[in-house]
Amino acid sequence: MEKSYYHAHESAYREIKTKGFVGWGNAKTLEDLGDAATKQYLQETVAKHFPNPKGMKALDVGCGTGTTAFMLAQMGMDVTGIDISETAIGMGEELARTQGLNINFVKGDVLELEKLNQKFDLIYDSHCLHCIVFDEDRMKVLTGAKKSLNPGGIFILDTMVMPNEAHDPTAMFDTLRFDNDHILWHKTKPSHMKGVIEIDGQHWCAQRRIYPPHTVIAEVAKAGFVTLSHRLDVQPGNPSMLRLILR
Ligand SMILES: C[S@@+](CC[C@H](N)C(=O)[O-])C[C@H]1O[C@@H](n2cnc3c(N)ncnc32)[C@H](O)[C@@H]1O
Repeated sequence: MEKSYYHAHESAYREIKTKGFVGWGNAKTLEDLGDAATKQYLQETVAKHFPNPKGMKALDVGCGTGTTAFMLAQMGMDVTGIDISETAIGMGEELARTQGLNINFVKGDVLELEKLNQKFDLIYDSHCLHCIVFDEDRMKVLTGAKKSLNPGGIFILDTMVMPNEAHDPTAMFDTLRFDNDHILWHKTKPSHMKGVIEIDGQHWCAQRRIYPPHTVIAEVAKAGFVTLSHRLDVQPGNPSMLRLILR
């Protein structure tokens, strides 16, 4: 089967590994993985919805090398992490071992969550959905998450959004373009991969979908979710972060 644009993450993780980093954002050590604000937000959200999280089943979608899967496991949850990158999954397994954490890392596609054949009390997406560009793919992720929740379960979605539609994050770069459909493309080589297009002899690979917040809120409603809470962390001059808690 022809690979899709999101398989490009594998080469990013190979580079991360080669450089001796342990995860996204040039993290050099376990302590560098993740930020304090996310950890606090996750702890508060879990405490609010699951006063006794020990043994409850959690899924981290697009888990990378395990940053947020580790946070959930440290709260006593029974965690599965899924990522498209084999390298990220291998690094996550190794990092979990060094911390004595028992996490089920799976190399798989978040468009096919039903293949896990499991239900979860909590599903966490930390910055994966904005890597899923096309609307039909995004809907597969969201409906798959909805079907994979236990009754009473929650889906925590943290995703990059663009509240100011006039802002062009690519203005400074000639290797990136951000179009009117909110798709961020990066310059690439010719390829038959899904998501690679040609414009004026130059090839571009779909990289991110950075929608305005109201579009993401409409998408999750279309997938059958009820929004329990939403919060927008605005970062001036940069895409902002939308944090949704869904049921
Ligand atoms: C921006 S990174 C975030 C990683 C991690 N969740 C974190 O917060 O540090 C996005 C992750 O989503 C993964 N990803 C992208 N598309 C995917 C897909 N279709 N299936 C599974 N994982 C995917 C990437 O490999 C990458 O690890």
